[in-house]
Amino acid sequence: MLKIAVLVSGGGTNLQAILDAIDAGTITNTQVAVVISNNAGAYALERARAKGIEAVCISPKDYDDRAAFNDAFLERLNQYEVDLVVLAGFLVVIPEKMIAQYRNRIINIHPSLIPSFCGTGFYGLKVHEQALARGVRVTGATVHFVDEGTDTGPIILQKAVEVQQGDTPKVLQQRVMEQAEWKILPQAINLIAQGRVRVVDGRVHIS
Ligand code: GAR
Repeated sequence: MLKIAVLVSGGGTNLQAILDAIDAGTITNTQVAVVISNNAGAYALERARAKGIEAVCISPKDYDDRAAFNDAFLERLNQYEVDLVVLAGFLVVIPEKMIAQYRNRIINIHPSLIPSFCGTGFYGLKVHEQALARGVRVTGATVHFVDEGTDTGPIILQKAVEVQQGDTPKVLQQRVMEQAEWKILPQAINLIAQGRVRVVDGRVHIS
């Protein structure tokens, strides 16, 4: 059984997609041990509680500095002894110590086709604003392992989504979520739970 922690900062629609996929049996052999947020007001925490899943908030505001927060965060995460950490709209930079400890065991969903519209400053609606400003016809989403860079880790799955005439950032964001994110994030978790994902020389092999 793959034990996972899901880290969230906001609405938690990707968390919901994971929970629904577990209920539907499209993710098997997987248990969500904990949902952790940096933001006490995150609706994602409600979604976890509604399913009887432990919902934890650890806010940087409660610590003297970032180093103290990072240590407390890692210590708390370690308590759950998870096999995989899933960043589902988690907007805090992951400390290097955590990346090293969970090498190739942290995955992230990003709302573009990496390497387009990614890196520092590209998160949430901003990604879609930039895609529309550039006039791309196709965008999408990417699930990747997390390494020390921002959105630079090995790519697991990607799915393309068409941009339509008259799209606003919000409309495009919703389409990317519905057609790509909510599909490939559960798919990636299931592949990992079946032991089908390996990283070799910085690239992902799926068997
Ligand atoms: C999602 O679109 C996710 O791809 C994005 O934040 C949103 C969270 O929505 N993540 C990033 O931009 C990370 N760089 P949700 O809370 O409803 O799942």
